[in-house]
Formats: sequence, C-alpha cells, structure tokens
Amino acid sequence: MRVLSGIQPTGRFHLGNYFGAIQQYIALQDNQQAFYFIADFHALTTVRNPDQLRQNTLDAAIDLLALGLDPAKVALFRQSDVPEVTELTWLLMTVTQMSLLEKCHAYKDKRDRGLPADAGLFTYPVLMAADILAYDSDLVPVGQDQVQHLEVTRDLAQRFNHIYNSEVFVIPEAKVLSATAKVPGTDGEKMSKSYNNTIELFETPKAMRKKFMSIKTDSTPVEEPKNPENCAVFQLYQLFANEEEQAALAARYRAGGMGYGEAKQTLYDKAMSFFGPARERRAALEADPNGVEAVLKQGASKAHSKAREVLARARTACGLKPSSTCE
Ligand code: TRP
Repeated sequence: MRVLSGIQPTGRFHLGNYFGAIQQYIALQDNQQAFYFIADFHALTTVRNPDQLRQNTLDAAIDLLALGLDPAKVALFRQSDVPEVTELTWLLMTVTQMSLLEKCHAYKDKRDRGLPADAGLFTYPVLMAADILAYDSDLVPVGQDQVQHLEVTRDLAQRFNHIYNSEVFVIPEAKVLSATAKVPGTDGEKMSKSYNNTIELFETPKAMRKKFMSIKTDSTPVEEPKNPENCAVFQLYQLFANEEEQAALAARYRAGGMGYGEAKQTLYDKAMSFFGPARERRAALEADPNGVEAVLKQGASKAHSKAREVLARARTACGLKPSSTCE
C-alpha cells in the first residue's frame, strides 16, 4: 500500500496547515509505504521569485522533518528532482480532454474573475495526476479542495489504460482529511493565507504571542460568564489540549472572572509547549542544511527508481521505447 501526497512550498506553514493536513500525513507514515514531496513545479504557477522558491522549498522540508516526518519511514523529496513526472505529464496530456480541465476550479475561478490564466495553471491537474500515477500510489491524503483533482487523476489513468488496452496505471483513491477540526484564524474565520489571518508554526515566540493576543473575541466583561463554544481562542485551545485540560478551561469560561487576555495567554503557553520539541528540532535542522539536503536526495533516489519503472511501462504501452537512448 503506497501513500503519497504533495505540499506546495508557497509560504511558511500555519496552524491550519498543521492541524488540517500535516499532522495527518505524519500519522500515516507508520505501517504505510509513504512518499511525500514538496511540489515546487506546482508552486511555479504562483511563486516567481527564484530565491524565494529555493528558500520556501528548503523551509518546507525543514518544517516537515521538525514536525515529525521520519526519513527512515518516508521518502521525502522535491518534486522537481524526479523529471520523469514532467515526461509523464506529457503522455497524460495527450489523453486529456480540454473540457475536463475547463471544469477544474483553480483555472475556472481565475477565468471567472477575469484574470489571465497561463497554461501551467490550466494543466496543473495533469501534472498532479502524473505526480500520483508515477509512483503507483494507492492512497492520496488530501484536503477537500483537492478531491476534484483526484477525480481527474482517476479519469486520466482509466482513459490511458483503456486507450492502450493495458494496466499501466494503478487507480488511486483519495483519502479526504478530516475537516472536523475547525482551525479558526485570528479573525475567527477559517485560517487561510488568503484571509490574512494565519498564525505560522515557527514564528518567533514574541511574534507568536502577539498573534495569539490579537485573536478576535467578543466584548463580554472580565467578571461575566463566557461561552467557550463560539470562541476562537477556545477552539484553538481544543486542538492542543487533552480532554481534561479542555474541560478545565471551559469551566473557567463559564464561571466568569476570567478575561479573554488570560485565556489567550493560556492558549499561547500551551501552543509553545506543544511545538517546543519541534522548535528545537527545527533549530538543529536549520544549522545542518547539508543533512537536510541528504534526506531529500535519498528520498528522490527512492522516488526516482519507482518513477522510471512506471514511465517505462507507460512509454512502452503507447509505442515509445521504454527509456530514452541517452540513458
Ligand atoms: N495541488 C496540491 C495542493 O495544492 C499539491 C499537490 C501537487 C498534490 N501534487 C500532488 C497533492 C499530488 C497530492 C498528490 O494542495
């Protein structure tokens, strides 16, 4: 059983990324053959600054390792280190109907808003299909917003297999990550970069405290009872704390006499201790970029040998030589 997923290096990870996805990726590393990659080819559709792309990619790798991705269990690699993926994208593109891509939301949203869209954005789902199919992936953990792309992937795999009357591609399943954990941002809306309400995982403690203190709350005075359920501070606290701790803080809300400032401080302290070990690991990884590079290289070499095997099958099926003469 192979689990695979990709994460775009478009900026630093925030609490929404962690509780919505990264934590679940890490949980899947046990008992599965997991491939995780940093989708730098995809990021080119939005990040057009080379230094920034390099830095984001390295930061993403460091963050994932610091948060607990274990290179002994998982192949972690850069998407662009496996060029077979772009070659496979072409093969898949030749069986992709325009109408299928016209329905995909990333492109459609831009077009509907009257913004110019490039061919990279239009064909983005085909590159994503190649990412998945290149490694015979069985299970792809993704957020709800990527389910459509998984449908495209399955469609293209089936179409290719059908046209060439072969079983070249494994048909993958999506594993939709549980969205039960609501991760509110500083304004109480869903935490998202596009709402400008994020709290990044590895901000300096001072910046982090400031963000927690800025979370929007109602104006109930200190002495009055408060309702934890509809409070973003409490909702965030629930992500970090065990049941007992949650019940204790909820009781203090209901009893009155506790101001939101104190609740925010409690949340901040909890978040700092929750990510404390990751913060320490991150500092060590940051001081050892060669070590991080070695992890990515090892991951790429594992991914590369699988992709070559799959690409040889695909090339052969459509009448090309299994690999190029230069190899
Ligand atoms: N498009 C995904 C996102 O924006 C990232 C991604 C690229 C991906 N290739 C993938 C996810 C393959 C899963 C599998 O979140």
